[in-house]
Amino acid sequence: MISKRVVAVYPGSFDPITNGHLDVIARAARLADHLIIGILRNDEKTSLFSVAERIEMLKEVVTHLPNVEVSSFDGLLVEFAAAQGASFIIRGIRAVSDYEYELQMALMNRRLRPEIETVFLMAGEAYSFISSKLVKEVIAYGGNISGLVPASVESKLRKRLHGEN
Ligand code: PNS
Repeated sequence: MISKRVVAVYPGSFDPITNGHLDVIARAARLADHLIIGILRNDEKTSLFSVAERIEMLKEVVTHLPNVEVSSFDGLLVEFAAAQGASFIIRGIRAVSDYEYELQMALMNRRLRPEIETVFLMAGEAYSFISSKLVKEVIAYGGNISGLVPASVESKLRKRLHGEN
């Protein structure tokens, strides 16, 4: 029997990657034969880290997952996914509040490319309150973010926001 290679795309801003994202990546990497993390390039939001920096940060923290690749895209997510031969888009859901936006995006993406299915994964409950935005805010005001982002990301945040080495 010839079984199909399952390729999935996990898109996002990842500015920066959190332990919640990492938990979803590890789960998705178990479901797909090949997982491509797609960092959005044409983001209207101003980002703290450049796309190149985010690619580097992500690559550093997924080295233990051999079937995970880090890439970036601009334009429509579904077109990037199709070009990569992906049949699934992975999104993480934390709380009910995420659902409305995620449902809208999933249905729009389905309308654009019905053959690509969005799959929602729940990060572990310990990560359900973590967001890149809050992590940046807490560390900017001197709060403790250990355990919320990988150690390598924490030190890059300190350097960027407080000039520490
Ligand atoms: O981590 P984020 O910022 O919530 O990710 C949002 C992302 C990148 C998944 C979304 O903004 C996106 O897919 N942008 C690409 C443009 C696109 O395809 N827009 C239509 C989506 S319905």
